[in-house]
This record gives sequence, structure tokens and C-alpha cells, in this order.
Amino acid sequence: MPARLLFGKPVAEAVYAELRAELARLSFAPSLHVIRVGEDPASVAYVRLKAKKARALGIQSQVHALPEETEEAELFALLDRLNEDPEVDGILVQLPLPAGIRSERVLERIDPAKDVDGFHPLNVGRLWSQGPGVGLDPCTPAGIMRLLNHYGIEVQGRRAVVVGRSNIVGKPMTAMLLFADATVSVAHSRTRDLPGLTREAEVLVSAVGRPGYLKPEMVRLGAVVVDVGITRVGDRLVGDADPAVAEVAGALTPVPGGVGPMTVAMLMANTVRAAKRRRGA
Ligand code: GUN
Repeated sequence: MPARLLFGKPVAEAVYAELRAELARLSFAPSLHVIRVGEDPASVAYVRLKAKKARALGIQSQVHALPEETEEAELFALLDRLNEDPEVDGILVQLPLPAGIRSERVLERIDPAKDVDGFHPLNVGRLWSQGPGVGLDPCTPAGIMRLLNHYGIEVQGRRAVVVGRSNIVGKPMTAMLLFADATVSVAHSRTRDLPGLTREAEVLVSAVGRPGYLKPEMVRLGAVVVDVGITRVGDRLVGDADPAVAEVAGALTPVPGGVGPMTVAMLMANTVRAAKRRRGA
């Protein structure tokens, strides 16, 4: 029996319905500022999507498009101004940044209370030490937890394997699965016998970005497979999972239409959360 497909759209819509109800109760419109440096086509598309979605919900959004040759100091100056502006609730710097700008310095410069990506070390530390929901949590793994929850997929006590150790997905995903009482292993490019490890997973999260590398023989029969890889191949978006994985997995997030919609939805949720906390609403 082919895998049950875990579509993100209906779950994202449920998040938006909750947010619309919350926003209707607020006496102010939250604001989101998205900063993009350079013209990386994927970043241009993602930033446009985030701003459009915010506006559709009634969140004020502003895009700051800076030239490729922007100096670190100029970016810091913009961040300082947004940090100090009481009308600004959320700040997001789209990654990757051009070479020459040190991302970790940039992320540390954002006011943690406005850090809607959840990448500031204070929010990272809160996630790892206190768990999700205390600071602001990274959007993609938060969206995956929400997706699993929506489809009634329990992770407590189960073996989870996360492939990929990025700060954006792999590491925060690991923290969230741990706090949900899964037994988590993290695999990466230096892992020996990756198929041996991934075959043990009851919940397998792949955040590699190499189209089709996850073969059916790497997946345990009936496993829940979360495909976070989104790679553009020609005019198509392709995930990490080979199409034949659907014949082995019990459940699978499609690409596109699985995790992607959740990331944007959680960004909106973080913006509303940040605004309410900052303004004491
Ligand atoms: N680049 C890829 N994913 C992300 C994300 O979640 N946030 C930001 N800011 N940049 C990204």
C-alpha cells in the first residue's frame, strides 16, 4: 500500500485560521521586516512569498532588498534601527548571505524578542534547555512538529533519525523531537553506514537537499518520512526522497506541498507571538 501523503496546505490553513482569529482580537497590526542581501533567485522568491502571505493576513510587512556588495556594518546599522523601532515586531534576514558577511554575527545582532526565525543564540539556547514555545523557535522544524501532530503521528518513545545537522533544520529538529520524547539520532555527511541507521528510524526526517538520494532500501517498512529537501531541478521542485520511497513508507510528506507551506505558516505564527509578547497583549 503506498504511503499516506501528509499534505502541508490544510495544516497551514488551520494555522492561518487560528492566526486570523488572534489578529482580530488585537488592537494593533503586527509588523514583519524581511531583509534580503543580493539577488539569489531562490531567496528573492522566498522573501516575496513571506511578505505576500503576511500582507494577506493583515500583518504589515516590509522587504529591505540590499545590494550584493552591502557591507556588514551597513547591515548592522539597519538591524540596530529595526531593533530600536517600537513599531517593528519581527525581523528576518534571509539566508544564505553573500560571502564576506558573517551570518553568525548578523543573527546575533537581531533583538532576540524580534527574532522570528529563532536563530539568535539566546533563542537556540532556550529551545535546547527549556524546550519549544519558550523563546522563538525555528519555523521549519516547528512546522514539522505541527504537521505530525495534525495527522495524529506520535513520536513519544519512537526511534527518530534526522539526516542533516544544519542550524536551520537538523539541529532544532533534533531538539524538538527530544522534547517530544523521541529517541533521536542525527546523521550527516560523515555518518558511516547511513542506510543501516536510517532503516532503524520509525520517524525519518531528511534535510539534505540532494534530490532522490533517499532510496526505498534506506527506509523501514511503514516509517513516517518527512522530506525537507527542496531542490529546483529544471522547472520542478524535487525532494530528497526517491519516488519509490512512497512504496515502503507508511506516511510521507510530498515535495512540493508538504513541509514548505508549514514553514511560512510558522513564520506568521512567530510574528504574531513576538508582537503579542513585546506589546504585552
Ligand atoms: N534560508 C533557508 N531557509 C531559511 C529560513 O528558514 N530562514 C531564513 N532566514 N533563511 C532561510
